[in-house]
Amino acid sequence: MLEIAVLISGRGSNLQALIDACADEEFPARIVRVISNKADAYGLERAKKAGIPTTVISHQDYDNKEAFEDAIDQELNACNVKMICLAGFMRILDARFVNRWKDRIINIHPSLLPSFKGLHTHERALESGVRFTGCTVHIVRPEMDDGPIILQAAVAVNPDETADELAGRILEYEHIIYPEALRLMASGKARVAGDKVIIESATYPDGGWINPLPGGDIDL
Ligand code: GRF
Repeated sequence: MLEIAVLISGRGSNLQALIDACADEEFPARIVRVISNKADAYGLERAKKAGIPTTVISHQDYDNKEAFEDAIDQELNACNVKMICLAGFMRILDARFVNRWKDRIINIHPSLLPSFKGLHTHERALESGVRFTGCTVHIVRPEMDDGPIILQAAVAVNPDETADELAGRILEYEHIIYPEALRLMASGKARVAGDKVIIESATYPDGGWINPLPGGDIDL
């Protein structure tokens, strides 16, 4: 059983997806702590409801980034955390912290990386005219929204929809691929090999695992 911490800054719908997955006894990870840099993050309520201990570590209480990240690091070690899941955590982690936790931090980003790193991904996807966008779960590297890809889900863009509508459709897939990516990492079925993540070939015997196009099957 892999002990994980989830770092959040807000709504926490991905945290909820991870909480729900961990409620299954067979799931290979357990959330031992939720850390938020914002005291009013709604995700903290979700954690409390699920009986998960929470800690607020506000960046505003520290003189610099190093001190803020050291406080997070200390808390993680005190809780015996083995892997960190970033779920809408809105602070960029420094190379020093990321390297200390090398290959043990994962993140979800609402685009098909390496396209549309950063903020306002859905607006930018619509503006750019891409036909597909989606979401990515990846291992965190010091560069923002960069690192070996664990899983992705593609969503066809409807040029007439708003950024909020597109975001809502992608979010549904975020809630599927994040727990699944964590399951793969925690069970050792996925492992980092240099710049890639290798998934054991027997994991998805039919070769693929998801067909998220409209009308397609989601086959986990
Ligand atoms: C998600 O879209 C996630 O991909 C991005 O931030 C958003 C967080 O949403 N990194 P929530 O807090 O998980 O609901």
